[in-house]
Amino acid sequence: MSTAKKQEELPWHLRGNWAPVQDELTVDDLEVEGEIPRELNGIYMRNGMNPRSGWSDHWFFGQGMLHGVELSNGKASYRNRYVKTPYYEKEMDIFSAMADPLASPANTHVLRHAGRIMAFEEAHSPWEVDRQLETVGPVDFGGKLKGQFTAHSRVCPETNELLGFGYSPMAAPYLTYYRIDPKGDLVQAEPIEIPRPVMMHDWNVTRNHVIFMDLPIVFSLEEGGFNFKEEAGARLGVMPRNGTNADVRWFEIEPCYVFHPLNSHEEGDKIVLHVCRLPHAMKAGLDDIGSIEDTTARLWKWTIDLTAGTVKEEQIDDAPADFPRIDDRKVGLKARYGYSLGMVPKTAAPHYDRWIHKYDLEAGTRKTHDLGENVHGGEPQFAPRSPDAGEDDGWILSIVHDETKDQSSLAILDASDIGSPAIAKVKLPRRVPYGAHGNWMAD
Ligand SMILES: [Fe+2]
Repeated sequence: MSTAKKQEELPWHLRGNWAPVQDELTVDDLEVEGEIPRELNGIYMRNGMNPRSGWSDHWFFGQGMLHGVELSNGKASYRNRYVKTPYYEKEMDIFSAMADPLASPANTHVLRHAGRIMAFEEAHSPWEVDRQLETVGPVDFGGKLKGQFTAHSRVCPETNELLGFGYSPMAAPYLTYYRIDPKGDLVQAEPIEIPRPVMMHDWNVTRNHVIFMDLPIVFSLEEGGFNFKEEAGARLGVMPRNGTNADVRWFEIEPCYVFHPLNSHEEGDKIVLHVCRLPHAMKAGLDDIGSIEDTTARLWKWTIDLTAGTVKEEQIDDAPADFPRIDDRKVGLKARYGYSLGMVPKTAAPHYDRWIHKYDLEAGTRKTHDLGENVHGGEPQFAPRSPDAGEDDGWILSIVHDETKDQSSLAILDASDIGSPAIAKVKLPRRVPYGAHGNWMAD
C-alpha cells in the first residue's frame, strides 16, 4: 500500500525517517567516529513504532521494534528486533487488539526491573524481552495484572519498587495504581476514581507520593476516540505511595496537556513537578499530536502546596522541547539537571529538532548541544560514569539521524559539557526510524 504512494501522499509518520524498516539485523564492530568511553558497558535499547506491513493508520498503531546498541570496552554492536506479540504475529488491527490485553503493540518504551527487561505500550500488558531483544512473553505479574499498564512506570532508586498505573478508556475503573516490589511481585492494585476516561500517558513519582495527571484528552466512543476538551478541566491527584483511592487529594490546574514530566520531588509540605507542558493536544480539527498553532511543549514548574491546597503554575523555559529525562538515580528526588529533545515548533506533527537541551534547575539556566545541520535527535538518556558517580558525571546517549547522509548514529555527549562536540558517534549499520523512548542498561 505505502510503497505505491508518493512520499508527500503519505501521513507524516510513514514519511522520510519516520518510515519503518523491515529487516532484523545483528552487526558487530561498528564504525565509530571519536572514542567510546571505556566505562560505558551495557546496552542502550530504544523502542519505536514500526508498522510491519509498511502502513499504519496512526503513529501509535505501528508494531514495536527495539533497536539495541551494545557498548563493550570501547566497541559497539547493533541489533534490532520486533517485539513478537500477537499484535505482531497476527498483524491484528488496533480495534481487535484493544479487546485483548496481551495483544500489545509494545512500541513505546523499554525498561529493566527485577532482572526483567520489558517493552511497553499503555493499553496492554508489558512484554518481556531478553538482552538479545528476543521476545520472551507477556508479563501479567502472576495473573495480578488484568488490564492496561502504562509505558511510563518508574523504578524508585531508593526502594527499587516499580510504580505504575493503567488507564482504561472503555470501562471503570478508568484508572488503577500498581505497586511492584523489588522482586518483581505486584503487591498493590488500587482502583482510583476519576470522573471520565482520559488519556493518561505519563505521571509523577516522589519519595513518598505519586501524582496522577487527570488532563482533558477525553475518550468518547461517540466521537470516535480521544479529543481535547478544555471544559472537562484539569487536576493533579496526590496519593501516598502506599495509599488508597480515599487518600487522593485533587488539585485543580489550568487545562493543558503533558505527555512527559521531567521529574518531581518533595520540599517540606510542597511537591515540585517539572513537566513539558502543551497548552493543548489532540484537539478535534487540528492535527493529532501537535498543531499548526504553536502548541509545542515547554518546560513548566508546578508547585503543589499541600498545606495551602494550591498549585503555582509557571513556565520556566521558552525552548520548544519534549522527551525530558533526568539521571534515573534521581527519580522522585531533587535533581539539579534535566535533559530534553528540542522540538520544531508550529508543525502539524511532532518534529524532532537538532538540539539536545540541558537544564540546570538550580541556576535556572539551559545549555544546548547542536547535533548539526539536517540532523534530528532522539530522546536523550543519561548514563552515569559509574554507579556512584555524581549527578552530572556521565554521558548523554541519543539515537540521531542525519537526513543529508541518510545515516543514523548513536551520539555520545559529555553530560557535564553538553555544548561541546560529541565524544563519539557510533555509526549504525542501517537507518533507525525516529521513535519513542529507551533506556541505558549498564552491565
Ligand atoms: Fe511517552
